[in-house]
Amino acid sequence: MSDPEATFDSAHFRQVMGHFPTGVTIITGMAGDVPAGFTIGSFTSVSLEPPLVGFLPQVSSDTWAAIAPSGRFCVNVLGAGQGAACWRFAKKGVDDRFGDVAWHPGITGSPILDDAIAWIDCDVDLIHEVGDHYFVVGRVLAMSHADDDPRPLVFYRGKLGGYSIHE
Ligand SMILES: Cc1cc2nc3c(=O)[nH]c(=O)nc-3n(C[C@H](O)[C@H](O)[C@H](O)COP(=O)(O)O)c2cc1C
Repeated sequence: MSDPEATFDSAHFRQVMGHFPTGVTIITGMAGDVPAGFTIGSFTSVSLEPPLVGFLPQVSSDTWAAIAPSGRFCVNVLGAGQGAACWRFAKKGVDDRFGDVAWHPGITGSPILDDAIAWIDCDVDLIHEVGDHYFVVGRVLAMSHADDDPRPLVFYRGKLGGYSIHE
């Protein structure tokens, strides 16, 4: 009998999953006194009552390991003009991902990016290890969105694009 894990094609799995478009977020937090953040596409709303959101960082993520001890994080939803930040916050080993990105602390102390089209500031509610990722669930403490007519950044088949309304 063949072992399904031995024959599993993970490159094909990534390719198939890439056909599901996602929004793009930068999850931020404080690593002691230092702001930290990483690009995350697996963000999702989880529950309305109580208000919970979630995302899935890799177990091997240095940034999640740095933020997790604080027990807090902020989800920053990226707008169409934030493609450069998306790539910079996804690059491993970059010392100062924030560079010239303007931000201010939310009520949890986690960075809120000034150009985000929406942000959700959270306390960690639970962390569950699932395969090679954690499922992190956060309880929403504060949130807001841009007042104008913002356009989101969209990730699809490994590339960034935009959003248009389908008439
Ligand atoms: C559009 C996009 C979405 C991503 N989504 C996730 C995600 O949901 N979970 C994850 O662990 N990594 C995701 N990544 C990769 C992480 O950003 C990257 O592995 C991480 O920042 C590496 O640095 P770290 O070890 O400091 O965390 C995504 C990258 C991009 C470009």
